[in-house]
Amino acid sequence: MTSPADSTIDEAVQALAQGRLVAFPTETVYGLGADSTSDAAVARVYEAKGRPVFNPLIAHVPGLAEAEPLVVMPESARKLARAFWPGPLTLVLKRRDNCPVSLLASAGLDTLAVRVPDHPVAQRLLRAAGRPLVAPSANPSGQLSPTTAAHVREALGDKVQVILDGGPCRVGVESTVVDLSGDRPALLRPGGVTSEAIEAIVGPLSSAGEGPLRSPGQLESHYAPALPVRLGATEARPGEALLAFGPTGGGVRNLSPSGDLTEAAANLFAYLRALDRPEHSAIAVMPIPEVGLGRAINDRLRRAAAPRPSSGKP
Ligand code: TXA
Ligand code: MG
Repeated sequence: MTSPADSTIDEAVQALAQGRLVAFPTETVYGLGADSTSDAAVARVYEAKGRPVFNPLIAHVPGLAEAEPLVVMPESARKLARAFWPGPLTLVLKRRDNCPVSLLASAGLDTLAVRVPDHPVAQRLLRAAGRPLVAPSANPSGQLSPTTAAHVREALGDKVQVILDGGPCRVGVESTVVDLSGDRPALLRPGGVTSEAIEAIVGPLSSAGEGPLRSPGQLESHYAPALPVRLGATEARPGEALLAFGPTGGGVRNLSPSGDLTEAAANLFAYLRALDRPEHSAIAVMPIPEVGLGRAINDRLRRAAAPRPSSGKP
């Protein structure tokens, strides 16, 4: 696996200490990292992504021990942490009174999202930094998430001090976000850990939709390529590029010819990017089963296909 030298990690830690941005690989997607304890550094993340300041950020830590001082952990949270950390699960929990993470990262809420990424380069960086790092996906807000260092360089290269290259991301869709700050566990975003696996530990999840301030019933455009996306396609219409799935697919790109959802998730963002070219009129996507990781894939695809904001690109 690609792995940066110790001197590059040192350089990244120095950049973070100066309030600069460092992109780093996780098992899900590349993150745009900043010192979570610095208001200025966190503000820089929102600015670089063009992200609305009411959309809170995830604090990344190397392990459960480093999460404890930040948030109040009920038993359900410890159970999930023991089962899935390090791994693609984010827990939304009540902030502790003396939580050192900038209030900007919580976007005015009394909660904080925390996650322990399962990637050796992320682990090295977090341990060397010695403080939690906020890290949204390293893409301009609304666009496709990056699963390689090259994706980050293309979209945000001029805004990031250091890009750590850890090769392509293994999981390929973002972490599952579960809110444990209320009476009942709620699924805020399907992701790399299936809701089935989470429910096996904490019981039924209520679904609240991604983001705390999402207007009810409205599908936000997000994770979007430049081309329109047509879902549930059985074949490409003239001019369209086909994103296939399963053995009958054919197509310009096939997320998984054998119908494997893990493989499909890992390929999703890179293939959408590859098909997002001006010679096509749209990207037609074949149906993906709504089970396991398929829920996370379909969530991203529905947002990619949602109506775009009227003013040009999302
Ligand atoms: O896999 C991932 O989670 C990646 C990698 C880089 O770790 N990060 C990521 O971050 O996807 P971002 O910022 O693109 O997505 C964070 C999600 C958003 O949907 C946000 O609304 C939600 O988590 N979130 C963060 N803090 C929250 C909070 N306090 N309450 C509710 N939702 C929160
Ligand atoms: Mg994102």
